[in-house]
Amino acid sequence: MLMKAIIITILCTLPAVFCVRCYQCASSQDSKGEDNCGAYKRFDKESHIAVECFSDESHMPGSFCMKLTQQGPKGFISIMSFREKVVIVTGASSGIGAAIAVKFAEQGASVVLTARNQARLKEVADKCGNYGAKHCIIIADLTKKDEIGKIVATTVERFGKIDVLVNNAGIAGRASIWEANAMELYDTIMATNLHAVVYLTSLAAPHLIKTKGNIVNISSIAAVNVIKPEQFAYCTSKAGLDHFTRSAALDFASKGVRVNSINPGPVETNIAQCLGDRQGEFWNMMQKMTALGRLSDSEEIADLVLFVASDKAKAITGSSYITDNGLLLKRGA
Ligand SMILES: NC(=O)c1ccc[n+]([C@@H]2O[C@H](COP(=O)([O-])OP(=O)(O)OC[C@H]3O[C@@H](n4cnc5c(N)ncnc54)[C@H](OP(=O)(O)O)[C@@H]3O)[C@@H](O)[C@H]2O)c1
Repeated sequence: MLMKAIIITILCTLPAVFCVRCYQCASSQDSKGEDNCGAYKRFDKESHIAVECFSDESHMPGSFCMKLTQQGPKGFISIMSFREKVVIVTGASSGIGAAIAVKFAEQGASVVLTARNQARLKEVADKCGNYGAKHCIIIADLTKKDEIGKIVATTVERFGKIDVLVNNAGIAGRASIWEANAMELYDTIMATNLHAVVYLTSLAAPHLIKTKGNIVNISSIAAVNVIKPEQFAYCTSKAGLDHFTRSAALDFASKGVRVNSINPGPVETNIAQCLGDRQGEFWNMMQKMTALGRLSDSEEIADLVLFVASDKAKAITGSSYITDNGLLLKRGA
């Protein structure tokens, strides 16, 4: 016991580590408020990963610790820390983009939130602020080139660099090719879902090369399968996005920058707003189309984005990750 106390005291004085009682037992305190197991871990201060565990074999090095410092998120810290990273999220005012921005903030990133709706962006930015994350709102319409330029310029001016670019903003819309509004819809969808991504990527490229950062594009299962009629514009934009992902990944590879896409199936967000009252009906139908009989929520997509953007995914580039509750599987696609 005396020996253990001496070891803990020595370890706690080392600059790179700190010691805490084993978090696995934090909830099982006895009546005196003492931990039951008495195990101690030594944590790397940067990664918050246990580098050594003593007193009990069941608490292995390599597991995570509780956040004990004052900065950043409270509670569980994952291995995908984004502290000191600057992340741009387009379409951060709603749905999947909002969830992505908040998750990055939770993991310590400085987050740049961009979209058109200022009030909604402010709400999401406040959530990011709750995690102590630095953040910045940029109001920009991605169909306008000068406004896309503003995103990169403001980010670099404010934070000095770009580590991760998440091209998430996107719109859907229905029309068959022969309908009167088809070409107008096509132009708007292509401008938002594809041209803006290519343009923003090109402007961000020198900064991503400097940081050896990475890009995550939010595509769709519509890139690989035409799920419903009247979706030619959306499907074409997402198929183009997947191919752009692969092409850019090859170009960027020699510079140490990775590019990937995430291809969700149905995720209940505002994207179906154009359907008005029929939104509920639409999501019910989509749910029935999945093999797992469920819709995803935006946080599930955000989790995958963070993984792909993290160093854990350092070997992954030019990939498209389908997360669709087995919708394509059920269709035999
Ligand atoms: N939900 C799904 O089932 C699903 C499935 C597969 C893929 N996706 C993809 O996921 C991405 C996010 O969609 P979501 O479901 O989260 O939809 P959402 O809730 O409607 O969010 C779309 C976001 O894009 C932004 N946006 C749209 N047009 C823009 C423009 N011209 N300039 C700047 N920002 C613009 C919107 O912001 P403002 O309106 O404030 O500008 C909003 O933040 C999209 O690329 C979508 O294609 C969604």
